Amino acid sequence: MDYLKIQGESIIKGEIAITGAKNAALPLLASTILASNNVVISNLPNVVDIKTLLKLLRMLGAKFDHKVNDITINTSELDKTEATYDIVKTMRASILVLGPLLARFGHCEVSLPGGCAIGQRPVDLHLKALEHMGAVIEIKSGYIKATAPDGLKGATIVFDKITVTGTENIVMAAALAHGNTTIINAAKEPEVVQLCEVLRDAGVEISGIGTNTLEVKGSGGKLLEFKPFSVIPDRIEAGTYLCAGAITNSVLKVTNVIPKHLEAMLVKFEDMGFKIEREENAVTILPATKIKPIHITTTEYPGFPTDMQAQFMAVCTIAEGVSIIDEKLFENRFMHVSELCRMGADISLNGTVATVVGTPNKLFGTDVMATDLRASSALVLAALVANGETKVHRIYHLDRGYDRLEEKLTNLGANILREKE
Ligand code: UD1
Repeated sequence: MDYLKIQGESIIKGEIAITGAKNAALPLLASTILASNNVVISNLPNVVDIKTLLKLLRMLGAKFDHKVNDITINTSELDKTEATYDIVKTMRASILVLGPLLARFGHCEVSLPGGCAIGQRPVDLHLKALEHMGAVIEIKSGYIKATAPDGLKGATIVFDKITVTGTENIVMAAALAHGNTTIINAAKEPEVVQLCEVLRDAGVEISGIGTNTLEVKGSGGKLLEFKPFSVIPDRIEAGTYLCAGAITNSVLKVTNVIPKHLEAMLVKFEDMGFKIEREENAVTILPATKIKPIHITTTEYPGFPTDMQAQFMAVCTIAEGVSIIDEKLFENRFMHVSELCRMGADISLNGTVATVVGTPNKLFGTDVMATDLRASSALVLAALVANGETKVHRIYHLDRGYDRLEEKLTNLGANILREKE
């Protein structure tokens, strides 16, 4: 198992090019199950979660030519419809094959994802919506067994809660269904928007893209002809590196980004006293004279993303004053708190609310354990300013979603080594 050894208090500055968004690429790859042609995708992030989904697609019978950030994928000879436990347990987003497999084949079996470090994370809303579309769903021996012998039918779906992968699953299912589907209370995340746009370019009539009501006209079982596309930039990767600029109070520029997607975070940086320069495809963070505390409530897009909560908490530990962070989406997404406290942070928890008493120059290096993907990057950020050496263990979490993080930070002046336990 690898760990990162980080010497703190190094000077960081420079520019980082952001890669394609993992959370956009995952549903987009799953959507290729609906394709009749070779699908050409560029700007694919080179991270473990993508390799996991490609492994699953290969097990289903997909063929592809994959070169780091580019792929041509052909699913015309898919002949399996089962997503097994050994894959789904390593990546919950495997649930994204459920909608497209069921829509194309009329049956499939997908292992139940189960819980994860950040909370219970059920998939009941995905299943209920598919049932509304005529699917018969049975949960047996830890598997979702779904059938729709006469194909899925268009329906009106009202999500009780906004769900990102739930919306994506239903949009993909609806694309091949018979008749029209209306999805009310749909997610509006940029990753959902790109999936809708790609499906629209593949011939599916979709209206309301980017709003909370989507209308999808199903093709009635006819497979789709995809156009080549490039995955949108990863707003969470961009936000994480901007947090590296913030916590080290240095000048840091992220390029290949869509600034609009980062707005909820950029406003928080400004509230903390940092200056932000927005260009067409780049954002620069400039030092603050005094780093001020902030209040954050995580919520759905366009609000502040839960996937940036841990990294901002790391920055709050060095602010001058008390920050309040309310995690509204996941009940257990505070596993990084105890690890940050091991590094000298002063954070207390009360239910969904974390109170961070910031003190500049207080963090020190020690051994810490990564517990989930974004928690891992928060520990790396804290280590950049800690006094002494930090070892971040279990970084397989980090590798799920960050492409060459230590290399990119090293290029900015950080002192980070990847070592074996
Ligand atoms: C996606 C993202 C993840 C991000 C999250 C919230 C991907 C691959 N992952 O996860 O990085 O943190 O959105 O922005 O895109 N819920 C239910 N029942 C369901 C589905 C969801 O109760 O059937 C609840 C969840 O437990 C959670 C909330 O709804 O409290 C939102 O979850 P959801 O948007 O579904 O998260 P994911 O799609 O799993």
